[in-house]
Amino acid sequence: MLAAPDVRFATAGDAVAIAELSRDAIEYGLPGAGRWRGCAARSHRPTPIIIVVDGAGAIDAFGIMAYTDDDAHLLLFAVRAAARRRGLGSAMLGWLETVARAAGASRIRVEARRDNAGARSFYSEHGYHELAILPRNYSGLVDGVRLEKWLRDAA
Ligand SMILES: CC(C)(COP(=O)(O)OP(=O)(O)OC[C@H]1O[C@@H](n2cnc3c(N)ncnc32)[C@H](O)[C@@H]1OP(=O)(O)O)[C@@H](O)C(=O)NCCC(=O)NCCS
Repeated sequence: MLAAPDVRFATAGDAVAIAELSRDAIEYGLPGAGRWRGCAARSHRPTPIIIVVDGAGAIDAFGIMAYTDDDAHLLLFAVRAAARRRGLGSAMLGWLETVARAAGASRIRVEARRDNAGARSFYSEHGYHELAILPRNYSGLVDGVRLEKWLRDAA
């Protein structure tokens, strides 16, 4: 388990590293990998927050979360393969959840590939439940699953 990582806000200089990690960790096997998901996140309104954790010579992880009314949406989230299973994803998710609570969000939603057993287990471990299967959600080819976590009572 890692000590608490130094989470910082991304800058324009992180864009390529984020796109590359997104391509390798999330968009693998999809046509146009490295372009379409990043573009979707970048054009999201309202503008999301983007955080990164630095590694040796590159970023180890990033997360992109958007806030709409009283909901939060985790748009993209990944830890470099070599840095996984050391608590980094949990620490970053906890950071983003703290911000979402402070921003008044009732719940957080996130999507993952249906075949991504690791991510589904990770989110389940953190109290997210699976809400719906999203047929061909990724590039019209790969099914997704939507998960959500309530941060406070719906009422
Ligand atoms: C999912 C992901 C973010 C997890 O990051 P991480 O830093 O490895 O997560 P943690 O070390 O904090 O794991 C916390 C717990 O989640 C569960 N978990 C994490 N990865 C898992 C895996 N591959 N298989 C099963 N359970 C897993 C475990 O219970 C783990 O605790 P443990 O290591 O003590 O068993 C990372 O694997 C990743 O980036 N995957 C590719 C991109 C992705 O799937 N992004 C999310 C969907 S967009």
